[in-house]
This record gives sequence, structure tokens and C-alpha cells, in this order.
Amino acid sequence: MPGRKLITLDEFTIQETRKFPQATGELSAILRDIGLACKIINKQVLKAGLVDILGSHGATNVQGEEQMKLDVYADQTLVNVLRNSSECAGIASEENDEHISFDDEYSLNSKYVVLFDPLDGSSNIDVNASIGTIFSIYRRVSPLGSPCTEADFLQPGNKLMAAGYVIYGSSTMMVYATKLGVNGFTLEPSIGEFCLSHPSMKCKENGKIYSINQGNTNKYSDGTRAFLNYCMEENKEEDRPYSHRYIGSMVADMHRTLIKGGIFMYPADKKNKNGKLRLQYECNPMSFIIEAAGGVSSTGNQRVLDVEPAELHQRVPIYIGSKKLVAKALEMHS
Ligand code: AHG
Ligand code: MN
Ligand code: MN
Repeated sequence: MPGRKLITLDEFTIQETRKFPQATGELSAILRDIGLACKIINKQVLKAGLVDILGSHGATNVQGEEQMKLDVYADQTLVNVLRNSSECAGIASEENDEHISFDDEYSLNSKYVVLFDPLDGSSNIDVNASIGTIFSIYRRVSPLGSPCTEADFLQPGNKLMAAGYVIYGSSTMMVYATKLGVNGFTLEPSIGEFCLSHPSMKCKENGKIYSINQGNTNKYSDGTRAFLNYCMEENKEEDRPYSHRYIGSMVADMHRTLIKGGIFMYPADKKNKNGKLRLQYECNPMSFIIEAAGGVSSTGNQRVLDVEPAELHQRVPIYIGSKKLVAKALEMHS
């Protein structure tokens, strides 16, 4: 259409691919498939408030089918869509103990593997607050033509090809990053397409919002407690005290951090020495996105993206967001 301003996710990724003559378009195809799976998940998320009318999870619906919990539904949707796509060799998901290798002849010859947290922030479903899906795409290290192996999924975040999330919020959005940058797409429900709405997203150098489960303050290290006190201190020049915002859904808290700046933290505490969030499903993809947008991310001791993963479901502490505010938190942490 001449003069048309709308660019769909698919059109955008194809245009990006053209910048690299050697690119085959497989990455665009995977992003399109993840987009499709998330549109299916979105449809189910929109009905979540109706469970009392249509039957609760674990109950049987009118077709005699058992109603699935939304995290299981999201997981199975992503697995099924990616299994049918010919560009994905296998997946690993927060919901499954082990990775799954897709062993048909097309998948065996695919270069990429995908990791995901199918439904992040599930405790927010009951209160109708934002939830999301987080995904990561790596180039496999096992030989083409053979089933993928655990090593394909245990690569550090600095090897990511792309990562992103979909937020099921007041509108549904996909944000994804490659080394070229971060772009956001809003779902236009009438045509069922993600359309470019937030081109070239940047994380502000400094921010005034800190995001943490403050109820755990007594369990945090002295350094992290000192940083929280700093955020709450009066200081006219720096506009302190800063604002505290915490939704308890990493996707939602990170989406705000990306757009408005600030810091999101899930530190280690006395009981949980590695914090709560998972390296491969939550911390690495979010760190890749924030770094591609100009922000930073650390475990408190090292760059998150440089952590060598030892196991699929490992957890790490995280301090992530605007450069200056994260630097301040790390300075006080050490
Ligand atoms: P999930 O729903 O995938 O299990 O993840 C929940 C995570 C994350 O989204 C959020 O940042 C964190 O749990 C909140 O934890 P607390 O309730 O301990 O603050
Ligand atoms: Mn999660
Ligand atoms: Mn989850």
C-alpha cells in the first residue's frame, strides 16, 4: 500500500535480515513462530477472568476436555508451534526438567534452539495484572543433522542471537533484541499482527524508580540494604527519595524499567544464596535486551551475560537497568 506507515513484525525482521547478505531468514521465521504462539497464549490470557464462569483450572469444560493451568497451556502452545516450525532444533522451558529435541528431518538440520519462560508472573493472573512470556534464541553448538544436546542450552548469555518478551498488559506487546538493537511491536487485534510501535528502544542512563520485593529487606545483604536506604533518603538535587514500584512479574517490571529507566533487583538473600530468578529463562534474556538498549546487568559480582551456566534451571541474583543507578547499587553492594 503506497504511503502505508504500518510495519508488521514479519516485515520488519525480513528487512533487518536483508542487512546481512549471508542471513537465511531462519531467525525471522522463529520470531514469527514465537509471535504466533504468543497470540494464541494471549487469546487464552484474555479469558483468564472468565474461569469462574467457564470452569476453574483442573475442572472439565463443556467439551469434556480438562482445563489446563495457564502456565501449562502457554508451555504446550510454544512447544507445539516450535515443533511444527522447521527452523527450531529443540527447546528448553522453565516448565520442563529437561530440554526437548525435535527429531524430524527438518528440525534436525535447524541451526537454532529456543529457551522460554512460557508464563512469567503467574501469581498475577488472579488479580488481572500484567504477565508475560520470555524467550531466548541461541545458535546450536551440536552438529547439524543430529538431535540437539543439553550443551546447546547451556550457553552463556553473551552467545545469544536474539531474546525478547511478550507482555500481556493493557495492550499486548512483543519486544525483542538482537545485537542491532531493541524494537517493540504492539498487537493490533483487528488484523492480528504485531506492528512496530517502539522503534530503537533505549534504556535511560539514569532513573528514579527502584523495583524490588522490599518485604525481604531484612534478609538482604548490608550493601543492598544501604542502597535501599539511599533510594529512600531525602536529597533535593537528585530528586530523592526515588519512587518504588514492584508488580512481582519480571516482564512487567522490566518493561517499565526499559521505558522509564531505573533499576530492577532480585538479590541473593540469607535463605536463597542465588536469589530466585532463573539464569537461562529470565536473567539472560532480560540482560541481553537491556544491554542492547544501552543499560547494564550484573549478579552483583559479574556481568550476568558472562555467567557460564552449569545447569538449565540455575538461579542468579540480578541488578539490572539504567547504567548510573545500577552502578550506584553495585558500588554499595560491594
Ligand atoms: P514465574 O511466574 O515464571 O514463576 O516468575 C515469577 C518471578 C518473576 O516474574 C518475579 O519477578 C518474581 O518471581 C517475583 O518474586 P517475589 O514474589 O518473590 O517477589
Ligand atoms: Mn518467570
Ligand atoms: Mn513462569
